[in-house]
Parts: sequence; C-alpha cells; structure tokens
Amino acid sequence: MADVIRLEGICKSYNVGLPTETEVLHGIDLALHEGEFVALMGPSGSGKSTLLNIVGLLDRPTSGTLFINGEDTTELGDAAITTLRGRAIGFVFQYHYLISAFTAHENVVMPMLLDRGHPDAAMERRADELLDWVGLSRWRDHKATNISGGQQQRVAIARALAMDPSLVLADEPTGNLDSVSADAVFELMRRINRDRGTSFLIVTHNLDLAQRCDRIVEVVDGRISGRVIPTLDAR
Ligand SMILES: Nc1ncnc2c1ncn2[C@@H]1O[C@H](COP(=O)(O)OP(=O)(O)OP(=O)(O)O)[C@@H](O)[C@H]1O
Ligand SMILES: [Mg+2]
Repeated sequence: MADVIRLEGICKSYNVGLPTETEVLHGIDLALHEGEFVALMGPSGSGKSTLLNIVGLLDRPTSGTLFINGEDTTELGDAAITTLRGRAIGFVFQYHYLISAFTAHENVVMPMLLDRGHPDAAMERRADELLDWVGLSRWRDHKATNISGGQQQRVAIARALAMDPSLVLADEPTGNLDSVSADAVFELMRRINRDRGTSFLIVTHNLDLAQRCDRIVEVVDGRISGRVIPTLDAR
C-alpha cells in the first residue's frame, strides 16, 4: 500500500541559535498508509502537536525528510508548500477556528474559495453535500457561534474535507467536548475514513477513542516509543 506520509529522521528544535535552543523531536521515523486511521498519544509536552504541525506543513523540521503522497517536501518553496497543504491536508483542532461571523455553509466554502480565488456554483454544491454528510444541513445558514460545540466541530470536519484531502490531521478534536459529542465527532471521522478512504492522524488523550483506531503511535520525550498498544479495530 502507498504511504500518505513518510517521515525519516525528523528532528525539530525550537529557538535555534538562541541560548534557549531545545530539540523536542529526536529523529522520528513514521509512515501512514493510505486509508489508515491512526491515534497519536503520549504525555503532555512529548511533542505530539509539534509533530502534527510538521506533518501538516505548518512548520518545518530542523532536519530529516517528510514525504507527502510520495513527494519529498524538503526542497519545496513556501508557495509550493502552501498549495500542497491546501490540497492534500485537512485540519481539525481542539478549538474549531471557524469564522464566527460566517454561517456554517460559508465556513465550509472558504477553503475552496481560497484555492480557486472566486466563488462558483460547484463549491456551493460541494459545501451543501459536505454539510449533509456531517448531518448539519438544517444548520446551513446559522452563524458558527450559534450552534453547539459538537456541531461546530462537525462543521470544522466538513471544512477539513472541502478540498478532498488524502489526509486529515486532528489535534485533540474531541478535547473540548462532552463524552456524547466526543463520541459522535469520533464516529463521524471514522465513517469518513471508511467511506471515502481518507487517512487520519488524530492526537488524543482518550484511550477509549484511541483503541477504536487502526493503530496507536505513542510519542514519549520526542521519540516514538515503539510500545504496542492494542486496538479493538486492528486490521
Ligand atoms: N513555539 C515553541 N517554542 C518553544 N518551545 C515550544 C514551542 N512549541 C512547543 N514547545 C515545546 O516543545 C515541547 C513539545 O510541545 P508540544 O506542544 O509538541 O507537546 P504535546 O505533546 O502536543 O503536549 P500536549 O499534550 O500538552 O498538547 C514542549 O516542551 C514545549 O514546551
Ligand atoms: Mg499538543
């Protein structure tokens, strides 16, 4: 199976060149196969968000190589990185970062508008399709602030899927939700993964949810621990 991402010897230091320079990722090797649904776990401060930001092309590694859909991203310039990020990767964060003055529908249209530069009927239809997919058609014209936290997170998931990315990165996507909403949001991501084949890498502190992923990767002190944590859905 092809790898949607492959990391080879990824290191990351913050404050490079300053007295406070610290290496927080120490040579990460990791591959995610197409269609895999993987949990990333580990103690607070172990480097999970740092790793996710690098995989998501939001930050650059200090050294090492990152392949996305087989393409070496190391040598890409900023413009190429921005385009690749927009088209290949969807993001879901603990806080949804929806634009509060915009409706659910407008928030989902936004990534397509940014990519194409002008609105068209196809992106309007696609946003409707995605809102239907996440079960929020009737909230289409509600402002993002006027829906519940769980609904906001489902809009954020619809938005993440707008460009039909091969990979969705989620950093504690259920961290702010009650357990019932967390479960619904998790199951929605699982269904998208099963129905569309989208790969997911999800940071979570919730072992119950992590065990419903294909595989759990554990980061401890900036390294992959290699510990095998059993899951219920292991393939
Ligand atoms: N912008 C930054 N500048 C300097 N140090 C940073 C920066 N971001 C993170 N760090 C440090 O890097 C280490 C890893 O942080 P990171 O946010 O990746 O951890 P995490 O595993 O996501 O933790 P949590 O579970 O609490 O979210 C921590 O020691 C943190 O203080
Ligand atoms: Mg984090």
